[in-house]
Amino acid sequence: MNPSLSLSLFVWLLAHEYAAYAADVSARMPSYSSFSYTQMTSDRYPSPLKSHLSFPTPFAPPFSKVSTLLPKDVTYTTYSLHPTATLSADGEYGQSAYAGLWKNLSYTDTPPFTTTVSPTPVPTQELVYPPALPFRTIGEDCLSLPSDFIWGVAGSAWQIEGGLKLEGRGPSILDSIGAIGTPPGSNDSNVADMNYFLYKQDFARLAAMGIPYYSFSISWSRVVPFGVAGSPVNMEALDHYDDLINTCLEYGIKPIVTLFHFDMPTSVSADEPDFAVHFLYYAKQVMARYADRVPYWVTANEPNMGEGLLFNTYNALTWILQAHVAVYDWYKKELGGTGKITIKFANNLAVPLDPTNPTHTHAALRYQNFLLGIMGNPLFLGKQYPEDVLNTPNLNLTALTVDEISSIHGKIDFWSLDPYVSQYASPTEDMEACVHNSSNPLWPSCVLLTNVQANGWLMGDGSNAYPYIAPQYVRQQLGYVWNTFRPSAILVSEFGFPVFAEAQKALVAQQYDLERTLYYQGFLQEVLEAIHEDGVNVIGAIAWSFMDNNEFGSFDNKYGMQSVNRTNGLLTRTYKRTIFDFVDFFHDHMAH
Ligand SMILES: *[C@@H]1O[C@H](CO)[C@@H](O)[C@H](O)[C@H]1NC(C)=O
Ligand SMILES: *[C@@H]1O[C@H](CO)[C@@H](O)[C@H](O)[C@H]1NC(C)=O
Ligand SMILES: *[C@@H]1O[C@H](CO)[C@@H](O)[C@H](O)[C@H]1NC(C)=O
Ligand SMILES: *[C@@H]1O[C@H](CO)[C@@H](O)[C@H](O)[C@H]1NC(C)=O
Ligand SMILES: *[C@@H]1O[C@H](CO)[C@@H](O)[C@H](O)[C@H]1NC(C)=O
Repeated sequence: MNPSLSLSLFVWLLAHEYAAYAADVSARMPSYSSFSYTQMTSDRYPSPLKSHLSFPTPFAPPFSKVSTLLPKDVTYTTYSLHPTATLSADGEYGQSAYAGLWKNLSYTDTPPFTTTVSPTPVPTQELVYPPALPFRTIGEDCLSLPSDFIWGVAGSAWQIEGGLKLEGRGPSILDSIGAIGTPPGSNDSNVADMNYFLYKQDFARLAAMGIPYYSFSISWSRVVPFGVAGSPVNMEALDHYDDLINTCLEYGIKPIVTLFHFDMPTSVSADEPDFAVHFLYYAKQVMARYADRVPYWVTANEPNMGEGLLFNTYNALTWILQAHVAVYDWYKKELGGTGKITIKFANNLAVPLDPTNPTHTHAALRYQNFLLGIMGNPLFLGKQYPEDVLNTPNLNLTALTVDEISSIHGKIDFWSLDPYVSQYASPTEDMEACVHNSSNPLWPSCVLLTNVQANGWLMGDGSNAYPYIAPQYVRQQLGYVWNTFRPSAILVSEFGFPVFAEAQKALVAQQYDLERTLYYQGFLQEVLEAIHEDGVNVIGAIAWSFMDNNEFGSFDNKYGMQSVNRTNGLLTRTYKRTIFDFVDFFHDHMAH
């Protein structure tokens, strides 16, 4: 290069640099104005529901028209528990026999009140929105949910009602959890959340938040204290749930009713083929009375993971399927119900720890076959139980006959799933040996499960129990069900997150449950993608749970969108921020 040219270029560059520098400095010259505070809080409130919901067309004829469908020889009565009643025997189903049912069950907790509490309006100050989220999770994608999307919150009888021995209720198999004399460390449910007497206030609080669906369960042993077909029916229970459903509708909330949420009466066994007879006897009493007002029924909650709780022999899954079918057929054909009937399936999807390793994929699919294939095959596909389940020695699961399969096939209106989280699967070291050894703790699936990825990272932010904030697996979970069992629709019937150590926090800190919101918003964003990107027909999402409750012996695993004061004798509920954010998500994504 010519030296003088390069010199002038250098000078030009220097001048240019200086001009840029000077402009920069002047741009950075501080400028001041007078300071004033900005208002950072604003009082925003949720939109309450319009009250007095009535369905234009009832979902079944009124009870007066269908009462003749009930068995003729039923004793309608009620019971009250006098421990001394056992001293004078008065027959198979007398007060004495009723007291005998409770002989082994006593509790530390005592219900603080025993009559229904009148609702009061929710104070305005409880309805103020929390501060805006510190990040924007919603509204950017323009993906929308259909205007009839089913969204709301869930609970279950034993976990919230309390008053186990009141108003003629009989004992359920869950009642021994935390009872005096059982292994210590579990809380009892004799108080739980006192929803049995506080349901009106609970509806007032959901309606004030604008939550349109409430999924709850009826206690079988309240309605039929002795559980079995032919035994007396407790009128106090029938009146209670009748009023509960009416109150639900009065507040503008649509009910989703589960008949059986783990709380089987102690005198009924799912290990016996006549399980269906007892279940149908109970279901008829409930459905004949309430079906006109109930759009959605769940026969059983998560029976597919009931091993050791609901059943000890795998054939119980056949008895439970047959019980479901008996109720389905009776509702559709005899009662003339037009609502929809489903089963809620438990499943934390197993994904291969190493997806490139076929043995890992096999392990994941084997696990899925045990959890979902057994009930999903006959119900949705009209197919036999999965081979790898039937071929597990000592499991003693009897293959269905062709007739049984055809009587089960299609007797369900949509798929309901409780997908809290996913987990990584790999085979046990010697899978064949495990499959043949029913003493192996991993038997019968013989699959190792973990939440730690092969690369050492945890799959997501942990909780106080097994769920993680790991929404990256939601689409696979829905895709697995959609493409494997090909249902017409999928309802996410439970999902939720117990914040780590929430029980140790002060109330205001419990209320600011940002992790729970992260869980819900991340999960729901993936549901949107599943609908729009993957073509999965997800028809709804129901959060577990609308308040903290007895998580099968623990009040510390808090899944609630409201906290419950367990020491002031009033069981006072307090909204957490999640419930506001949850409502916002649907308002942002649904056509009104
Ligand atoms: C109470 O416990 C005794 C002793 O374990 C047992 O034999 C009896 O069947 C139990 N009774 C009931 C009603 O569960
Ligand atoms: C639950 O049980 C634990 C352990 O027994 C006990 O420390 C705690 O006070 C109980 N909580 C309630 C709410 O009863
Ligand atoms: C299966 O049947 C065998 C033989 O009757 C019995 O020993 C075994 O305990 C049964 N297995 C299960 C899981 O019930
Ligand atoms: C079966 O599993 C149990 C429990 O892990 C173990 O103690 C036992 O040795 C196993 N039996 C055989 C035959 O491998
Ligand atoms: C429960 O209520 C009592 C009485 O109002 C109060 O002192 C206590 O702090 C409350 N506890 C929680 C965890 O909210």
